[in-house]
Parts: sequence; structure tokens; C-alpha cells
Amino acid sequence: MILQRFLLFLFCVSIVCSVKAQKQDPVILHKVDRLLSRMTLEEKIGQLNQYTGKALTGPPSAKSNDLQTEIKNGWVGSMLNVKGAKNTREVQSIAMQSRLKIPLLFSLDVIHGYKTTFPIPLAEAASWDMDAIKLSAHIAAKEAAASGIHWTFAPMVDIARDPRWGRIMEGGGEDPYLGSRIAIARVKGFQGEHLGDTDAVMATAKHFAAYGAATAGRDYNAVEMSDHELWQTYLPPFNAAAKANAATFMNSFNTLNGIPATGNTYLLRDILKDKWGFNGFVVSDWNSIGEMVIWGYANNAKDAALKAITAGCDVDMEGSIYRKNLATLVNAGKVPVSLIDDAVKRILYKKYELGLFDNPYKFCDENRERAVLNDVQSRRAARSVAEKSIVLLKNDANILPLNDRTKTIAVIGPLGKAKRDMIGAWNVNQDTSDVVSLYDGISLAAAKGQTVLYAKGGTVQHSSDKEIAEAVSIAAKADVVIMALGESFDMSGESKSRANIELPGDQEKLFNAVAMTGKPVIVAMMGGRPLIFSEIAEKAQAILYTWWLGSEAGNAIADVVFGKYNPSGKLPVSFPRSMGQIPIFYSQTNTGRPYNNEASKLYLSSYIDEQNSPRYAFGYGLSYTRFDYGELVLDKNAISTKDSLTVTFKLSNIGKYAGEEVVQLYLWDQVASVVRPLKELKDFRKVKLEAGESRLIRFTLGKDELSFYDASLNWITEPGTFQVMIGSASDDIRLKSSFVLEN
Ligand code: NOJ
Repeated sequence: MILQRFLLFLFCVSIVCSVKAQKQDPVILHKVDRLLSRMTLEEKIGQLNQYTGKALTGPPSAKSNDLQTEIKNGWVGSMLNVKGAKNTREVQSIAMQSRLKIPLLFSLDVIHGYKTTFPIPLAEAASWDMDAIKLSAHIAAKEAAASGIHWTFAPMVDIARDPRWGRIMEGGGEDPYLGSRIAIARVKGFQGEHLGDTDAVMATAKHFAAYGAATAGRDYNAVEMSDHELWQTYLPPFNAAAKANAATFMNSFNTLNGIPATGNTYLLRDILKDKWGFNGFVVSDWNSIGEMVIWGYANNAKDAALKAITAGCDVDMEGSIYRKNLATLVNAGKVPVSLIDDAVKRILYKKYELGLFDNPYKFCDENRERAVLNDVQSRRAARSVAEKSIVLLKNDANILPLNDRTKTIAVIGPLGKAKRDMIGAWNVNQDTSDVVSLYDGISLAAAKGQTVLYAKGGTVQHSSDKEIAEAVSIAAKADVVIMALGESFDMSGESKSRANIELPGDQEKLFNAVAMTGKPVIVAMMGGRPLIFSEIAEKAQAILYTWWLGSEAGNAIADVVFGKYNPSGKLPVSFPRSMGQIPIFYSQTNTGRPYNNEASKLYLSSYIDEQNSPRYAFGYGLSYTRFDYGELVLDKNAISTKDSLTVTFKLSNIGKYAGEEVVQLYLWDQVASVVRPLKELKDFRKVKLEAGESRLIRFTLGKDELSFYDASLNWITEPGTFQVMIGSASDDIRLKSSFVLEN
């Protein structure tokens, strides 16, 4: 009895100790072990094998026959790209003919919506509204889960500071703190209350790691960076996702300091599985195991399989590398079966957690699918999140919002009636005819007696003289022009890096011709990345950065244009003035020769032909109202690491409109053993105030906010002076003070 109790105690201790970040249920662990003991080596390897299943939902073919045979043999653990309650049921029924009837997992890139498309993730990041971001992910999960999906390949939590990189659109921007908050919101949104609920899917934190730092902004390129930079900038959102219980991680395509991420033991075992205690499983990116041969890191497919499984990559996406090589490696004694078992257990655990062993068709209910996909609440939520994602960059003479005294509005530009482009690079299941264009949105919202005219003015790439002339003649008839300019959906996203991020084609020429009419021009700038549009930035009366806003794009922009919604978005990423400034981000260090707008730039850290500052800074975004920041009060001048410090001030809305302000708190650790950035975001609050209303805003600073990675990568604090800065943008600091951290 005593021995039994002692063993039970040891068992519990071992669970607590081995699980630093994620907890596991001993009952499920027991079931997993029992099932594992009945599996052949081939069946185990089958669980690590993922195929795209598109062929299974098309007409019968040799490919679909082969896939069916492999599934029946138990050689496939998961599929991507099979969607819909009916299709997933059919494919699952094939798995039910296998010896052990282990259900398949169905995975899909549900990046920012399934049927209802929400703004691209970078746009949502501009909302700085964690509830909105969580809701968007949750609705995406609900729709996907109702269509048979168990697992989304999102969120992408890669920090990105290079707008040439097309996938900047898929992440949360440049800052590790904001990125971490967004990672948590999106993981929680996708995974809901509990995995296994029929409105939740497993999340994937991707791409592990440092994919956003691809050399020269070229997709899939190598990454070279110090460990210090990796830990302080690129890993925090992944750590946050693991702590939020993200079920899976995905490898990145890049090398990190010469080692492909897919075969990187330091990343996958040392950091993710050991240090962070991640108990979910890791999926490769599409054939990224096989690509290690092309990189010149593995001799052949067998060597690649050995390196990937040893490093800790559990699932092989569409590469067939594990399927064809792991058994030979195990039989030759090169791969211990315990490594395979560990990977298989991680996957089976999730299948049990989802409830698929009790009911493999749990997510394949066509009635539920119909009801969920037609829920009107989802469109309402998409409109609200889209409104919050818009950033007002300029509003000369308060031309916005428009009122009903503006009688004739001309919508001009290649994206004025665009629908498909509003969805961005990932369209999962949206009927594009059902998307609200800018023209539709403005027309629907226009008051009685207001006329809306339209001219396309060309494509995003080209405008003929005739198209420009037509646009000018339409502009001449209007009181105000709204120009819809930017990128088409296929200009940002995976493999859409651009060496030139200026506004494409002849759009600046079109703008200039329209502006020459003397009519006020409001620009709605659309795209998946920060673009450079210097002349427009100078000449337009107003600029709304509207990204790609999804199904409700036009309605959301119209809500802002007519003042139904007061814009509250703030940039999650710096917008360069020139391409030569890239990479540009706000959290720079001082340099030994800082340039602070002195008369001469000589021997100071500057460009002779450009300013140092971005066109639009991180955290920047205007409102129709104005906010006053009252006096800053710190409750102490000095604290110890056991203490915390309270920072308070009064925020007042002193304008005419109700509005939301994103109050941002930055710190500067003035002297440290590793040079610290002049500003680091440590907290923020999105606050809604009626016109004339004031509120006391309070932040608490403690050890976490004051810590940093030292040169040996220890997370430490050092005594010294900290400057605290509070403002409306990283370049619009309204309040400053300092305090001392004592020994
Ligand atoms: C490649 C992309 O890098 C990844 O993000 C995506 O999830 C997979 N393809 C699957 O489509």
C-alpha cells in the first residue's frame, strides 16, 4: 500500500516536472500507451505521415486509388486539403476500414476565416484589440470545425521587419510583445474552451523559427542571426503560443545559422520540447524534410528522415520521406523505436483529446455545417473586426468623416470594385461574389441625394491614357474622390516577395492626374504589406490604410468614411520612406553616434540621402477625435525586483466624437550589460471614451517588464535607471518619467 502510494506520488511528480508549459490527462496517456502497444512499426510510422487529399475529393484516379489503399493499410495519420462535412466523412470512413481504425486528422490553412473571411492577420494586428482578434479566430474555427476540420495551420507568429517579404501579411507585425499578445489571442480563439468542442480546432504556431527574417526579404531564404536576437525578438511569440497550449507547431522552410529548422535539434528538442515542455506535436512544412537534401544538409531522403526525426519533427507533410525511410532506419538501429513512439504518442494524444476515437465523424455533421456557415452573426463580426483594422494615416482639415453635404462621390481606382482582392492570398471557402467591394459599400451607405460615380482607371499594373482621362472626367464631376489603390491579392503572401514595394504599376500617375483636378482626394490603400507611396502621402487630403479586409471590406471602409465608426487602428509595423531603410523597426538602439536632427549629419548614424525615421511609425494611427494625456504619476521612484510600480495618468477625449485610443507604454533600460533599445513596448490598453469623457489609466510594471536576455541568454534584471514613456505612437510619446531598479 505504502509502495503503491509512493509510486503514485512519483507518477504525479513526474507529470508535473516533465510538463512545464502544457498539462496532460493521465487517463488519455494510459489509453495512448495501450493503443501504441498494439501497433506495428509500419502503423506507427503511418501516424507520422500526412498527405494532401485533394485527389480523394475529385474524380477517381490512380492517385486517389493509391491514397485509399494507403489509408486502409493504416499508413496515413492526417490529411490536409480535404474539407467539408461530406468529404471528410467519406475519407474518414476509409480510415475506419484499417486494422486499428485510428481516425485521421483533417488539417487546413484556415488563416483568417473559412467561409466568412476576416481581415488578413497583419490588418487585424492593427486593431490592437485582442478580443476582436480572438473572436475572428474563433469564428474561423467554428466554421472550419463544422466543415470537418480538426486542425488549422495558423496562427503564423513570425515577427517580420522586412516588408519585401510577402508573408508579412500573415503575421502580427514587427514587435515581440504585441506579437505575443496576438499569438495568445489567436491560439485561444482557434482552440476555444476545450479541444474536442465542435466549435474549436487545434492551432499551429508557425513557422518555427525565424522565418520572417529571411535574408533580403526573399521567401524561403536562409536566416543568419545571433542567438540573442533569436531569443529577444523572434522566439517570444512562439513561447507565448506554447504557454497558451497551442496543440501543434510547424517548422519553417529556412535554415537558422546554417541548420534547416526542420532538422534543428536546438529549436525542436532543446527549446520547444525540453525547455518549454511542449507536449503537442511538430509538423514539417510542405516537404521541408525532403528540402534538407536540396539545401545540402542531408545526403539523401533517408539521411533527411534521420535528421528530422532525431531533431524532433513528428509529422512529415506531403514528403513521403518518413513513410519510405523510417522503417529501414529503425531496423538498421539508426533510429531508436522510442523516438518513433514519442512522436506517435503526441499525435494519438490529440486524437483522443479531440474525441475522435469515440466518434470519428464528430465534426462531419452536414446540418450543423449548413447552419454554422449561414450564421449572419459571422458577417457582422467580420465587419466589426474590419472596421477596427483600418488605420487613418492622414486627415487634412478633417475632411473625414464625410457628411451628407457631400453630394457627389467618385470612387476611382483599380481596386474600387474589386472583390477577390479583398480576401488576400488565402481564400479557403469564400464565395468571392459575396464580398462587399469598396464601391458597393460606399453606394449602400450613401445617404439619399448622394450620388456615387465610378471609374476604374486601369489595373493595378497599368493605366492607359484613355483610362486616366476617363477617371479625370469622372473626378471633375464629383465633390470628393475616394481612390482605391494598392496591391492585388496575388502580390503579397507566400512566395510573393517583392524587391520593389512601391505602389505598383501606374497608380501614382493615375492619382496625380486625378489630384490635378483640384478635387479633394481620399485614398483607401489596400495591400498585404507596408507599401511606399511618397507622393500620395504628401498630396492626398486623407489616407486610410485598409489592407485586405475580407468579406465585409467595403462596408467597413464606408463605416469609417461616413463616421459610423471612428478609426482606432494603429500600425503594427513601421512603414519605410525608402526601400534602403529596410529592415526598419522602432525598437532600435542608440548607436555611439546617434543623429538627432543636428544641422550636420557628418559622422553621425544617418543616411546622406534619406531621413532615419519611417514614413509612418509603429503604433501610429489617427482618430476623428483628440485625446489628452494628463499628468503621469509613478507611485514610487525606486523599486526592487520583488516590488512592482504603478504608473497612472488621466486620459481624456477632448474632441467631438466618441473614440478609442490605444495607449502604449514603452520602456528604456538606460544602461545594461547588453545594449537595450531606446524604446520597447511593454504594455498597451485600448480605451473607449465618449466625447468629453476621462478615465484613469493604470499600468503595473514588475520584474517581467524589466527583464531582458543577457549575453549568455539568461533572463535577468540589472539595477539601474529606466525611462518610462507613454504615448499614442512610438514616435508620439506624450508622457515621460524615470525610476530606479535597486539591487
Ligand atoms: C506551405 C506554407 O509555408 C505553410 O504555411 C502552409 O501551412 C503549408 N504550405 C500547407 O499549405
